Amino acid sequence: MISAEKIPNNVNLSGNKRLQRALEHWQPKYIQWWRDMGPQGFQDYHQVYVRTAISVDPEGWAHFEYVKLPEYRWGIFLADPVHDRRIGFGDFLGQPVWQEVPGEFRNQLRRLIVTQGDTEPASVEQQRLLGQRCPSLYDLRNLFQVNVEEGRHLWAMVYLLHSYFGRDGRDEAEELLERQSGNRDKPRILEAFNEPIDNWLDFFMFTMFTDRDGKSQLMSLSESSLDPLSRTTRFMLTEEAHHMFVGETGIARILERTCQLMKQAGFSGDVRKLGGIDIPTIQKHLNLWFSLSLDLHGSEVSSNAASYFANGLKGRAKEDTFDEHVAKDSFYRMEFFEDGKPVTKEILMRNAMNEVLRDWYVGDCAAGVVRWNRILEQHGLSERLRLPDRKFHRGIGMYSGFHFDPNGVPLTSEQWEQRRHDWLPSTADAEYLLSIMAEPIYEPGKFANYIAPPRRGINQLPIDFQYVRTEA
Ligand SMILES: [Fe+2]
Ligand SMILES: [Fe+2]
Repeated sequence: MISAEKIPNNVNLSGNKRLQRALEHWQPKYIQWWRDMGPQGFQDYHQVYVRTAISVDPEGWAHFEYVKLPEYRWGIFLADPVHDRRIGFGDFLGQPVWQEVPGEFRNQLRRLIVTQGDTEPASVEQQRLLGQRCPSLYDLRNLFQVNVEEGRHLWAMVYLLHSYFGRDGRDEAEELLERQSGNRDKPRILEAFNEPIDNWLDFFMFTMFTDRDGKSQLMSLSESSLDPLSRTTRFMLTEEAHHMFVGETGIARILERTCQLMKQAGFSGDVRKLGGIDIPTIQKHLNLWFSLSLDLHGSEVSSNAASYFANGLKGRAKEDTFDEHVAKDSFYRMEFFEDGKPVTKEILMRNAMNEVLRDWYVGDCAAGVVRWNRILEQHGLSERLRLPDRKFHRGIGMYSGFHFDPNGVPLTSEQWEQRRHDWLPSTADAEYLLSIMAEPIYEPGKFANYIAPPRRGINQLPIDFQYVRTEA
């Protein structure tokens, strides 16, 4: 039975019979999906110290308790309404926002919500084996926190589908549980969400770069004229921030440890001999997840993006910081690649909206890389991490089908094949990473050899707190 106590919410679930009925049908399928496709080996006998959102105020969403994962209280929350909120961009600028879905934009909005929704369970599926290779209980807990929140993000999108899209919405909600990451017949919609994540270096890079794409998409959706979509995504952003924290600090701790081991090895030695992760391997994984996440922003020139903007469905990140919100007669200078040479052209701004969002994203990523490099600098190392050129390793948009090195220099297919594993992880790299992660660390306060402990624990608890415990 669906009850408002079991499903924390601020959408008046107890007074909404239609939503209750839809969820009664969907929720058992969700739990089955979670058991089948969620964290493997941590469903029945483990209790995890997680944060559960029980309301949207600052105290309410920082409520910590031990729970068994399938009993997590996935809730439905909208950020508080903004009084007299007006449409902030596009052709309907200044009009009141919509509380219902306008018929003419129904398909486009459904597409946006389904595409966002599909990424949420996908990442849980991608990460389902990581618990068995965790570097510590602290990290294990963080993984599960990310997983349950991605589950909640799925709930958020399903709430919109059930509430505003009738029968089609209910069908879409079911299909969100039927597609599977990496499945050949029924894959997830976006490519980065079909890639395996079976080691913790990939997990931290994913939460740094791919969850950050989540942030750019959620920021642009939180500008939407459809007010329930705006309010839902605004609340999701608070959780997304934690996912990026997990990724950024995870890599920072690996770098910290790598620096310590390099010192031990006398700087010239091989860190791998001491069981660490060398900087070139870290760079390769950065290259992989950054380029996959660039693809998630879509084609550089896009009439869909133009139409989303014109209709007020999806804006720019921080729309209110732009001087002008109609963007009808303005242009964007974009670099094209023609006959092997770069050519700059002016594109109608609305058609360049994917690229505008990608610019914001690249800037946000670059700031993170600067923070990582401070660690290398503090240890007196001359190596630095860097973002590859945005033409590197692209599968979507005008650079797909061509080859570039991380500096953006064009390569022939033969040159690319010869050198790709200088820039992207190889099978040997994957095998090495799995070898140092083969033994999970479940002892409180202990950390795998390749990663430094965090500065502090969760919710002001000590680092050696038992963040995941086995049921007696
Ligand atoms: Fe998410
Ligand atoms: Fe996330």
